[in-house]
Amino acid sequence: MSAGRKRGLWGTRFGFYLAAIGSAFGLGNLWRFPYVTVENGGGAFVLLYVLFAICIGLPLLIGELMLGKLSRKSVVQASLSLDEGDGKSFASLAPLPRSKTSWAWIGRFSAFACLLILAYYAVISGWVLHFLMQFFFGHLMSGSYDAENSLRVLRENGWLQILLASVHLLLSLIVVAKGVQEGMEKWVSNAMPVFVVLLIVLVTKSLSLQTAPDALRFLFYPDFTKLTPFSMLHALGHVFFTLSIGIGTMVTFGSYLNEQTHLPSAGFRVTSIDTLISLFAGLLIFPLLAGATPKNVGPELLFQTLPGLLQSLDNGFLFGMAFFICLYLAALGASIGLLESVVANVLDMTGLSRAKATWLTGGAAFLFAIIPALSTSSFRRVKIHGYGLLDILDTVLINGILPLAALGLALAVASKLKPASMEAEFVNDDSIATRKMYKHWCFVMRWAAPTTIMLAFLLAGWGIVRTFLFSGI
Ligand code: PFF
Repeated sequence: MSAGRKRGLWGTRFGFYLAAIGSAFGLGNLWRFPYVTVENGGGAFVLLYVLFAICIGLPLLIGELMLGKLSRKSVVQASLSLDEGDGKSFASLAPLPRSKTSWAWIGRFSAFACLLILAYYAVISGWVLHFLMQFFFGHLMSGSYDAENSLRVLRENGWLQILLASVHLLLSLIVVAKGVQEGMEKWVSNAMPVFVVLLIVLVTKSLSLQTAPDALRFLFYPDFTKLTPFSMLHALGHVFFTLSIGIGTMVTFGSYLNEQTHLPSAGFRVTSIDTLISLFAGLLIFPLLAGATPKNVGPELLFQTLPGLLQSLDNGFLFGMAFFICLYLAALGASIGLLESVVANVLDMTGLSRAKATWLTGGAAFLFAIIPALSTSSFRRVKIHGYGLLDILDTVLINGILPLAALGLALAVASKLKPASMEAEFVNDDSIATRKMYKHWCFVMRWAAPTTIMLAFLLAGWGIVRTFLFSGI
């Protein structure tokens, strides 16, 4: 941020919750959670996911909010100032000089990962737009909707995917260019109530289906034999993705928080609401999926199976439209959070105006989106062990880069922030409970989270070796 520019703050306390939950809740909950759960065998994975969300995700989320709140900077500048010694330089709002030390690199890595995830996310959000329009116009023109054909059209036309991703990025740009209060906060506070009502209606409908008991068993009965060596990393990666941790979004959101906010309470509310919404999304989607045999368990699962099933219900058109609108609102809210986070970094580092920084970031995201957008057409022959480019990108970004970035940020926060400042964020009422909570949090940040992430990487590494040995390559 240039020295003279005033940093935006949330207009109301509610504004932070709306934005953080709006950003946390997105395609990760509705589109990714179902297929990752199917890939990892159901109940046992769901249990692992909930456990990691509370024991690892929540502490890391608090840590990132803390880094933002104490520094009043976004992740690149905040981690740069960690090098200046115990966060003392946090008082300065001017851009800091370049540094070659490791903490600064963690910030840059996080922000770059955020840009890549925004690009990938824009492509999938473009898919949602496509299915929304196909569903609507299909019914309008011919009274029905051909799921197979819609998917084929999308797959074969890389340029269509590029166009849809650009439209989505453009919508996000318009909101972010307006600033924190006028743009993001206003948008989320209008969209959120619509979204919650739609979700409740859909879940009620889904749970009334005959397949609901099977779906509940699949989701909540833990069969640990179904877990694979990759499940731990998949669960952690998904927790980081769905809570928007590791790529600096929560550092940016924390930097807009006012002094009085008690971070552990804020982190707890965001984590619990996001996890509950994921489970809620499972309750919506699995009863519908239990009636079908998916051909392709992967990123296409939701789009392949669900639209056809939705239209086979009574009032299927209405439910289908409600579902796609819900999905798109979620995608847009999360994309706005991702874009805001990168833009805040650009603003902190340069003297650019918000509008210019937003367009610049949008342009970069558009360029990076070209590869995933062409993954099912021009690059369809790129395959590793049967997995297409989109699966590979998803794994590299979410199961690789995200846990690494989260690990780096956790260590940066725990070892470089001033202990007294960190403790003050926890202990707000002099009670023993908050002191104990602080001690637990320190332990997780320094030891438990890094060890769990490393263990997950080791297990997945062993899984890869085992796969190659057994397949004789
Ligand atoms: N949490 C979002 C989801 O579950 O779809 C995705 C996301 C948004 C990830 C913002 C990261 C982020 F910074």
